Amino acid sequence: MKIVSTIAQLKSIIHQAKTEGKSIGLVPTMGYLHEGHLALATTAKKENDLVVMSIFVNPTQFGPNEDFESYPRDLERDTQQAESVGVDIIFAPSVQEMYPEDGGISISAGRQAKLLCGATRPGHFDGVIQVVTKLFHIVEPTRAYFGQKDAQQVAIIQTLVRDFNFPLEIRTLPIVREKDGLAKSSRNVYLTQQERMEAPAIYEALLVAQEEFLEKGDRAVAIGLARKHIANHTSGEIDYIELLSYPDLKVVTNDTKNFLLAAAVYIGKTRLIDNIIFSLEGETANV
Ligand code: PAJ
Repeated sequence: MKIVSTIAQLKSIIHQAKTEGKSIGLVPTMGYLHEGHLALATTAKKENDLVVMSIFVNPTQFGPNEDFESYPRDLERDTQQAESVGVDIIFAPSVQEMYPEDGGISISAGRQAKLLCGATRPGHFDGVIQVVTKLFHIVEPTRAYFGQKDAQQVAIIQTLVRDFNFPLEIRTLPIVREKDGLAKSSRNVYLTQQERMEAPAIYEALLVAQEEFLEKGDRAVAIGLARKHIANHTSGEIDYIELLSYPDLKVVTNDTKNFLLAAAVYIGKTRLIDNIIFSLEGETANV
């Protein structure tokens, strides 16, 4: 496995691989790897000749009062883990390498970025599509791998790929969870012992709401039950719990085929997100 920190070096490796006709799988991450990230890399390895994992805590997707500085980082441990699942190249650039000067051009995500996480984190998805666009141009992947954990992110990236005609396939993989149901996240390390015990209530609340909605079809009642579950089982504060169509993220109607039930909850100071994507027939993963 190679660790590459400059765009020029990575481009030359990619160029060579392309000349040899190799397919390339890209797994974008911000590091502090866990099994969710590793599952993406494992699948990428099965489906491509060469796997590039980027590890870059992208400053442009963090708001001024967010955790950019304190975001957990451990490149050495990440390197070992990535190697163990067959990643061929780690791309770990510096902020200076990715953003050499204040850019004059920005891209902004549309309607899908204004709600859910985008409402609380204005500009977040603009930063995400900025870095993802750069990575797509640098790596020229055949396939790029994203987790359903960030379902809104995937929906917006699908739109990016469609609207800007990126010649690649987006692959979305299911959420990897801890045994007690908590979605794995690099931010789970922020939780105190007490908070960690409360955190699985987020997924439980989503399951309660899903069951209610599938049975009775009332969005407001379902969301109300989820809110109650969070209030009864955690000391956390709900940012949002919402049920929308997926991937377009619109108000549900009688014609809605796929549903996104998503939540963001502050457990202590840590903002955790989770979701379930399902159809009226039951749960689906790869939407
Ligand atoms: P990061 O939070 O590191 O996540 C990298 C990828 O891993 C994302 O596609 C995310 O959805 C996926 N992932 C995280 N936790 C997961 C879990 N429990 N199960 C399955 N997949 C999981 O998302 C980002 O980084 C950044 O926004 C990025 C796309 C890299 C752009 O900077």
